[in-house]
Amino acid sequence: MDESRDPFREARRRSGILECEFQGEQVPMILGHAEVRAAAKDWQTFSSDAPFRVPIPSEEEMRTVRQLPIETDPPQHTAYREIVEPFFRRPKDPEFVQRVRLLVRELLGGALSRPEVEVVRELALPFQSRALTYLLDVPESEAKTWIGWGIHVFKDGADGEVKGAELERYIHAQLDRAEASPGQDFFSALVIAEYDGRKLSREEMLGFANLTFAGGRDTVIHTVSSVVDYLAAHPEALAFLREDSKRVIHASEEFFRVFMPLTHIGRVCPGGAELPGKTMAPGDRISLCWASANRDESVFAEADEIRLDRKPNPHLSFGFGTHICLGAAHARLLVRVLLEELAAGIAGIRVISSVPHVEKAAAYRRMTGFDELRVAFSGL
Ligand code: HEM
Repeated sequence: MDESRDPFREARRRSGILECEFQGEQVPMILGHAEVRAAAKDWQTFSSDAPFRVPIPSEEEMRTVRQLPIETDPPQHTAYREIVEPFFRRPKDPEFVQRVRLLVRELLGGALSRPEVEVVRELALPFQSRALTYLLDVPESEAKTWIGWGIHVFKDGADGEVKGAELERYIHAQLDRAEASPGQDFFSALVIAEYDGRKLSREEMLGFANLTFAGGRDTVIHTVSSVVDYLAAHPEALAFLREDSKRVIHASEEFFRVFMPLTHIGRVCPGGAELPGKTMAPGDRISLCWASANRDESVFAEADEIRLDRKPNPHLSFGFGTHICLGAAHARLLVRVLLEELAAGIAGIRVISSVPHVEKAAAYRRMTGFDELRVAFSGL
């Protein structure tokens, strides 16, 4: 298995901690599965109440608002999370599942009719964007705008513009529309919502919408491209899934484990903390390294191997504890349906060229997906 996905192995075995500098700040990354889980549950010691500082690197330059509910602790977190939870349950509805299936069939049908497809922009991005319109219950035509943002809308501002400004302008416009005439959609739910006996402020609404767009974009796109690349190299995996459609459940969990697109997430220690061999001062930050925990040899036998029937598979790709991913049901549905439809209609995938996406930090480099993946699909 590709080592570039798990650059933490040595440090995980040695001490369980990797010290890494981000934007001039030394951050110890917690690497072991048990230790990451314990820290993720202990929100009093390892707090998320830190605007812009839950993601690592921090995002002061990328947005103007605190993301909700992720950058809060209980009890505020619980009340904030309840506001948007009903939307994240929508993927359980059979009609929703069928819509996603028809979308995948359309996209794969288009891909099969062309000699080559660039998976990131022509498959993963439209898939992620159009499926998100179903989740947020907005017209599917909105996806055209979201696709037009390309894949780095949150990172690269237009010349001289504050980064992330385009997204914030878009969200403001949607909230204005919802205020003028509320409907059933996500933006209207924010406009109508009550928190602590009052309406949400515009800043809070922006914080919810910003996270929903940001959290579900690169994560899904990188997972889709990584899965397609794997299946290209392993046609026997397509045949294995074709034999029994229930196999996609364990297979997709294994893909989430090994291809974890989100290396880590930060927490702040309000009252300091003790880590193995290190004392954290109040206000210091640590990282919960999900990607490393997913390769912990003491939990996953042959952790570097992809076993499509791995069971149990307690990976931490959707986090653990208080902030466990709200979009997990949606992401799972997308990957399961994609696998089912690939297995049902695709005989093989040939990679023509690829540009891996590599996250570069002071103490590690890690592949998280692809910037570009050109392939040719062949039908059954
Ligand atoms: C939280 C990963 C897809 C929305 C999280 C967390 C992780 C994660 C690790 C926990 C963060 C923490 O503990 O601080 C992923 C991965 C995905 C994915 C790997 C896809 C493969 C999505 C999607 C959406 C989404 C599709 C929305 C459309 C959220 C939200 C939270 C969250 C709103 C915050 C939950 C809270 O604070 O209570 N995600 N995510 N995610 N994710 Fe995802």
